[in-house]
Amino acid sequence: DKGNHRHFMEKEIYEQPEVISHALSNYVDFHGHTVKPVDAAIDFKSLRGLAVSACGTAYLSGLVGKYWFERYARLPVEIDVASEFRYREMPLYRDQAALFISQSGETADTLASLRYCHEQGLKIGAIVNVKESTIARESDAIFPILAGPEIGVASTKAFTCQLAVLASLAIAAGKARGTVSPEEEKQLVKSLSEMPRIMSQVLNSIQPQMESLARDLSKFKDVLYLGRGTSFPLAMEGALKLKEISYIHAEGYAAGELKHGPIALIDENMPVIVIAPYDRFFEKTVSNMQEVAARGGRIIFITDEKGAAASKLETMATIVLPNVAEIISPMVFALPIQLLAYHTAVFMGTDVDQPRNLAKSVTVE
Ligand code: F6R
Repeated sequence: DKGNHRHFMEKEIYEQPEVISHALSNYVDFHGHTVKPVDAAIDFKSLRGLAVSACGTAYLSGLVGKYWFERYARLPVEIDVASEFRYREMPLYRDQAALFISQSGETADTLASLRYCHEQGLKIGAIVNVKESTIARESDAIFPILAGPEIGVASTKAFTCQLAVLASLAIAAGKARGTVSPEEEKQLVKSLSEMPRIMSQVLNSIQPQMESLARDLSKFKDVLYLGRGTSFPLAMEGALKLKEISYIHAEGYAAGELKHGPIALIDENMPVIVIAPYDRFFEKTVSNMQEVAARGGRIIFITDEKGAAASKLETMATIVLPNVAEIISPMVFALPIQLLAYHTAVFMGTDVDQPRNLAKSVTVE
């Protein structure tokens, strides 16, 4: 049932504050501002590293997770798309654990990667939406994302719920390893607790701007997304969302890679969507944006209040989100990215919930 929404994808985008709150409640104590203990099958304290593998959007959530595990838990993360991971014959060690992320829990390549790690004797954790799935069944520890059924082929709420779970696990890992102090844990969990409210505030305010921007975006054939830090995987997720449902060609790049190639493409026919919260990378990303502007590129700037105040560049559009804690910015910044892709596809008249050539669950290699 779509409720009063035109598509499942729209319904699932708007459900995010509620489902993320549900997901978080499984991992954090909202009142005590602590993370809940993690399934003992994965002993973060003694791990040398983490191997992470997944496909598509789930891979991109894993990539954000890598930044968090390395930063908060000082735990090195090896991550790859499952179709490569399964054949790489990567040397693995028993004091590593492996983490697989899959909404459906049935993706063939992800499952094959899991079995490879299992054979190598690693403990397996699964971040899944479908708890009865094959990937869940073959894992030592299940970390449910509790997003509820996701019907739209383009993943939205599963992505942000995967992020919420990964953030909670990274904090829990940091706590176990002594790299996150009790004070830091309190601050981080407080920020996570505020996220559902902030997400609904954003969803309630940006829709008209996303709709009118989508109308402009639908005229282009190519779009480039740029970001740094955790905004880099988000840039790739933005490009993936746009291409799969609107069929507009899009690429996501690390902002610093711009000058190593893609800058050659910049002209007025390829808008550049820059994702830049006012974080420790902001100035760097703005200087990449200047390089785009200097070559006549059109910029769609997704930032926060501080970022909007700090940048003087002329843009095609600036989307201003509230200033939020760094740990929750990927989930908050996912919202305009999803809505922009959604409204562009609706405007272009594509089959939003069932995009051509795509299946919700990819059970063949
Ligand atoms: C993109 C999308 C796909 C899936 C990928 C993995 O919107 O939905 O890229 O993320 O096929 O699927 P799961 O998570 O079921 O393993």
